[in-house]
Amino acid sequence: MSDTIVNVEGLNVSFGSAHVLKDVSLSVDRSRTVGVVGESGSGKSTLAKAMVGLVRPSSGQVWVDGIDVATASRRELAAYRRRVQMIPQDPFSSLSPRQTVGQALAEAVDPRRARVGRHRDLIAHWLEQVGLPADAMHRYPYEFSGGQRQRVAIARGLVIEPSLVIADEITSRSTCPSRPRSSSSSRRSSSRSA
Ligand SMILES: Nc1ncnc2c1ncn2[C@@H]1O[C@H](COP(=O)(O)OP(=O)(O)OP(=O)(O)O)[C@@H](O)[C@H]1O
Ligand SMILES: [Mg+2]
Repeated sequence: MSDTIVNVEGLNVSFGSAHVLKDVSLSVDRSRTVGVVGESGSGKSTLAKAMVGLVRPSSGQVWVDGIDVATASRRELAAYRRRVQMIPQDPFSSLSPRQTVGQALAEAVDPRRARVGRHRDLIAHWLEQVGLPADAMHRYPYEFSGGQRQRVAIARGLVIEPSLVIADEITSRSTCPSRPRSSSSSRRSSSRSA
């Protein structure tokens, strides 16, 4: 297995006439945690989205975990999305208001049947890892604070133990006491399975 899990080369992304990413290159080895720093609007979320195929590059290569994301087939991308998890910056827009937290995590584990059922212990484990009580699985996203919702999104990203986690400012809404815990559990997961 290759040591490199991410290899971005000469990536350019434009939205209309706005050239947001200009000639971005980056390489990440497995078992490594890499942070990308930049001011608001500099393109960090755009880079994350390009790495999971949500944003199309105008040019350049985005090679992640064995596939060229920009040119991959639908089938390749579907399998890829089981191995590479992006935890979004805004968890409200990514969590369905009609699903309990348990169903959201169950859907990550088994997209065809979003039922807690036999995944109950696994779901409880990952909720506890991010500092939430196991019974949070029975509640809906609107019943949580912004920071708690962000922790739900982190748990959902980690529950399938992906080979790569792309975390977009995942601690920006967290209250201080939860920060070290959620960052270290995501780091543990990425270093264990990446
Ligand atoms: N879908 C889009 N259509 C048009 N412009 C966009 C789109 N997505 C992002 N942009 C623009 O691209 C630039 C980079 O946005 P991006 O969200 O990547 O920044 P960021 O570094 O993540 O900022 P922040 O720290 O505030 O989250 C911004 O000027 C933004 O307005
Ligand atoms: Mg952003």
